[in-house]
Amino acid sequence: MKLNINGDYHEVDVEADMPLLWVLRDEIGLTGTKFGCGIAQCGACTVHLDGRPIRSCSYPVGNVKGKITTIESVGDPDILSKVQEAWIELQTPQCGYCQSGQIMSATALLANNPNPTDEDIDQAMAGNICRCGAYPRIRAAIHAAANAMKEV
Ligand code: FES
Ligand code: FES
Repeated sequence: MKLNINGDYHEVDVEADMPLLWVLRDEIGLTGTKFGCGIAQCGACTVHLDGRPIRSCSYPVGNVKGKITTIESVGDPDILSKVQEAWIELQTPQCGYCQSGQIMSATALLANNPNPTDEDIDQAMAGNICRCGAYPRIRAAIHAAANAMKEV
């Protein structure tokens, strides 16, 4: 099958029921997206399908009809780069393992709500677990990215 990932087409010869995460990491070599729980509970594997966050560990690749965006899509779209810059500026990660999923969820939030409240952030990010407890810094980085987007 042919997949559009970060604007490039990739041909893969896999079973339709293989989780998208496996295809991204093992077939295409995009290892920025992480495996956490494998049962759609932690958010570490979050990528976008046509701009919408999905759990790639539990999403059969055969169901993908649209454009996939992963953490490797640096600067494209622009919101993703603003979020990444804020993450670096505020030194948001601790161990870092959950952070690509956090960034992808934050990016989807800001695409729909450029000025989120703390409650909006907590609601949108509730499905992204951070075992290091970096939640206050994640929230601060989302506000910083939102402010940076206003300046553009
Ligand atoms: S690895 Fe997919 S939600 Fe946890
Ligand atoms: S930064 Fe370690 S799990 Fe989130």
